[in-house]
Amino acid sequence: MIEIKICATSANLGPGFDTLGVALSLYNYFKVEISDELIIENCEEKYCNENNLFYIGYQTVCEILNVHDKCHVIFDTNIPISRGLGSSASLICAGAIAANYLHGNILSKDEIFRICSSIEGHPDNIAPCIYGGLTASFEGKNIMAISLPVHPDIHFTAIIPDYELSTKDAREALPKEVNMHDAIYNISHVVAMMHALEKNDKELLRVACLDKLHQPYRKSLIKDYDLYEKVCFDNQATAFMISGAGPTCLVLSNFSNFSSAIIDSLDHNLKIIDLSVDFNGHIVKEL
Ligand code: HSE
Repeated sequence: MIEIKICATSANLGPGFDTLGVALSLYNYFKVEISDELIIENCEEKYCNENNLFYIGYQTVCEILNVHDKCHVIFDTNIPISRGLGSSASLICAGAIAANYLHGNILSKDEIFRICSSIEGHPDNIAPCIYGGLTASFEGKNIMAISLPVHPDIHFTAIIPDYELSTKDAREALPKEVNMHDAIYNISHVVAMMHALEKNDKELLRVACLDKLHQPYRKSLIKDYDLYEKVCFDNQATAFMISGAGPTCLVLSNFSNFSSAIIDSLDHNLKIIDLSVDFNGHIVKEL
């Protein structure tokens, strides 16, 4: 049996819509072994079937490797579902990584990245699960990803509401077309943001993280978004943004315990977690 430890991810990072993603120190764990029948343990009954995203990742890799078995998997999950923290990507990647490892580790990380991206449709969440750290993904001849530097003094805090928001609904809130000014605004901001993240330039980061492609349309889907933002900036946050498609909000600051500064000013139903960048993305351990 093996155990896959795989991280949460936050996509977009403000202006890097559908491009940037960062691996964060919140984890799902999966104990996996080859089996003649599919057995999924410690997972909601309605997901214990062949449509489970873990199994789709597993099965897709098995088909590519031309092997015909199933798996017994025990879930131990901490990444909340449909909150903008890459829960789906973690399942797909963990299944694909497990299938590859249990069948001779034949596929490279880049191949696993491409396979999982084609299943998930959002490489910005897949890339940090596979490579760790801060990543940018883009379409070249194939789907590609690069790793980018992020300053070690930048800390991340997730403000997680107690309700779900489907990526489908969050994408339906977006306009079908963007105007040239907004496109240029985002391209220029994302370049500035890369520099600010590398140097931990607080002033620059606060301006560079602004976005015109998705956040203005999505923030109304997040109850009290404006209040969260105000409380965070009142307490020396460096930057504030929607995590992925939401509803989680992501705060960047220079404080590893930033949650303690804001927790008393916000709704008690929120889960507020201090996180750091995970530079592995995933780890496979033999048990
Ligand atoms: N980049 C995608 C979006 C991430 O914002 O819709 C979805 O998890």
